Amino acid sequence: IKHIAVFTSGGDSPGMNAALFAIAKTAEVNSIKLSGIRKGYEGLIDGDVVPLDTRELQKMAHRGGTLLKTARSKRFLTLEGRQQALENLKTNKIDALIAIGGDGTFKGLLAFSEICDLPFLGIPGTIDNDLAGTDFTLGFDSAVNTAIENIDKIRDTAEAHNRIFLIEVMGRDCGYIAIHSGLGTGADAILIPESAHDFIQLLEKAGSYDREEAFIVIVSEGDELGAEVAAKKIKEINPDVDLRITKLGHVQRGGNASAFDRMLGIRLGAAAVEALLRGRKNVMAGILNNELSLTPFDRVVKEHQVNDELRGLLKIFGS
Ligand code: F6P
Repeated sequence: IKHIAVFTSGGDSPGMNAALFAIAKTAEVNSIKLSGIRKGYEGLIDGDVVPLDTRELQKMAHRGGTLLKTARSKRFLTLEGRQQALENLKTNKIDALIAIGGDGTFKGLLAFSEICDLPFLGIPGTIDNDLAGTDFTLGFDSAVNTAIENIDKIRDTAEAHNRIFLIEVMGRDCGYIAIHSGLGTGADAILIPESAHDFIQLLEKAGSYDREEAFIVIVSEGDELGAEVAAKKIKEINPDVDLRITKLGHVQRGGNASAFDRMLGIRLGAAAVEALLRGRKNVMAGILNNELSLTPFDRVVKEHQVNDELRGLLKIFGS
């Protein structure tokens, strides 16, 4: 391998820039040429290939967002789009590809591998933490920290008014951000897409709520019910409560990467280049039990599971 190209794809996440720096540094040390592809699969189709400067990446490694920009590409879902991307890889004499992104990104690589036999290496970059093959994805820890910081602030005003607050956090179909931010802020209830029991617990608690203190409910955006319906149900049981809904939204995606995500980016970035140099292909670099691990893309995109220990915690702290 003489020339690697890297791109970021899907929702950006803090830690992506740290991974880009680590990839550049490891490539440099191994005398491998590295290029960046801007705007994810869109840039691959458009041939938007740029040189990367290790020193510049080093200075920006702490920042949220992605220096390579990102996109969710509809064109790459078509065979025509993927064929155009293949042409651009050949034109630019790229002989290996590193993609930083979430499940959509790896599904894209799986489809691409049907027409392109260059080695692909993946790095999990999404705040949702919804991938198999790694205990944590890049950006999850930063997003949880941002959520916690904001939920703490909401608690101050909620306690002052003895209000019920339903706070919606991101996570798509996955409740990890809700679980971690909810447990970390002492929430009274946590609603996640993976459980139906959590709502029953919430109603039981809301029924006996005495309005002498705050009552904080964290709702994962993918929860079947959603914050508005949950609020309506609480009002039906307890009509006089003072209730507000806050959606934290995209604030959770921004900001400097946490210490954990910076280190994760460094480890996975270096691991991705080294794995390519060892001849590995079509696997995602991840950390399992604090050890580097490489998992084939088709296993990574299988449905994630909230583990039994966390489910147990939800039962205890939601009661
Ligand atoms: O996948 C990351 C994520 O932030 C999800 O938590 C959220 O559902 C989605 O992306 C939002 O996507 P967009 O920025 O395209 O609105």
